[in-house]
Amino acid sequence: DMSAEEAAFQARIDAGIKIEAKDWMPDAYRKTLIRQISQHAHSEIVGQLPEGNWVTRAPTLKRKSVLLAKIQDEAGHGLYLYSAAETLGVSRDELLANLHSGKAKYSSIFNYPTLSWADMGAIGWLVDGSAIINQIPLCRCSYGPYARAMIRVCKEESFHARQGYDIMMSLAKGSPEQKAMAQDALNRWWWPSLMMFGPSDAESVNSAQSAAWRIKLFSNDELRQRMVDQTVPQIEYLGLTVPDPDLKWNAERGSYDFGAIDWSEFQNVLKGNGPCNRERLRTRVKAYEDGEWFRDALVAHADKKAAKRVA
Ligand code: 3HC
Repeated sequence: DMSAEEAAFQARIDAGIKIEAKDWMPDAYRKTLIRQISQHAHSEIVGQLPEGNWVTRAPTLKRKSVLLAKIQDEAGHGLYLYSAAETLGVSRDELLANLHSGKAKYSSIFNYPTLSWADMGAIGWLVDGSAIINQIPLCRCSYGPYARAMIRVCKEESFHARQGYDIMMSLAKGSPEQKAMAQDALNRWWWPSLMMFGPSDAESVNSAQSAAWRIKLFSNDELRQRMVDQTVPQIEYLGLTVPDPDLKWNAERGSYDFGAIDWSEFQNVLKGNGPCNRERLRTRVKAYEDGEWFRDALVAHADKKAAKRVA
């Protein structure tokens, strides 16, 4: 049973009142938010790498500048989210150390390689599309700083999804080779995008508590279903094929039934054995180490200015 403090806290949550950084909160609430928000931030930062691979090879200047803008947005999303996590009493260095040591996770989706330009379309359309479905509810989650960070992120994310679908439309309506590129990218990104929503509800260890604390407003499977129902008509519009022979419209449910997800692949990627896990982490560690002199210079400069003010 709950202490008086916990009961008062839960009553605020149930009344839809936002919890702010200065409010009392159960340690476990703080801990699970640090876990989720920091891993969300790590996902944004690592998520820049797959797309970075195609900036120098974009087919036109317009596509290059749009891709650069998207990647820059992701960096900003990461910084908002690290700032939201810091309101819970952790330092950014600590969060980054957890990422670099493999202790903290980032979204499985970023451990796949980007093999063709069509992947830039599939990522914007499917990865950012899934992220939007997951992030819209988070704008209403119980922790104030996280909910507010999500509102700005969602606005920018819809541009990411639209530019991705625009790339897919150009390819799908282009030459047979271009259409084949688009289909190949869809084949490789469809299932990993559905895995972004997390394990099935039955396997989800955090969902029940996160739902009670109104951190998770819809379950993993509910949001995954939303993504399938929203995307299948878009695939048909492109004249492409869903890489799932078991996909079938279920008139009773008003939703699509779809095939089984390969959860062994998902668990493998989470264990660090995905196609690009080691390369992604090595790249992040190198960037952090290469940037040490710059961080040290900023601190030295700030200390000098502070000393002058005191003198
Ligand atoms: N990749 C890596 N780890 C995952 C995962 C995925 N796709 N899905 C679940 N997991 C992990 C969870 O983190 C948890 O491990 P942990 O306890 O060590 O953190 C474990 O698998 C069990 O999953 P649960 O369902 O119990 O965990 P959650 O309740 O945290 O639900 C979640 C998982 C839905 C991803 C939730 O954490 C969430 O909504 N996070 C915020 C959204 C987010 O992180 N999105 C990343 C997408 S990429 C992105 O946003 C960038 C965009 O710009 C493209």
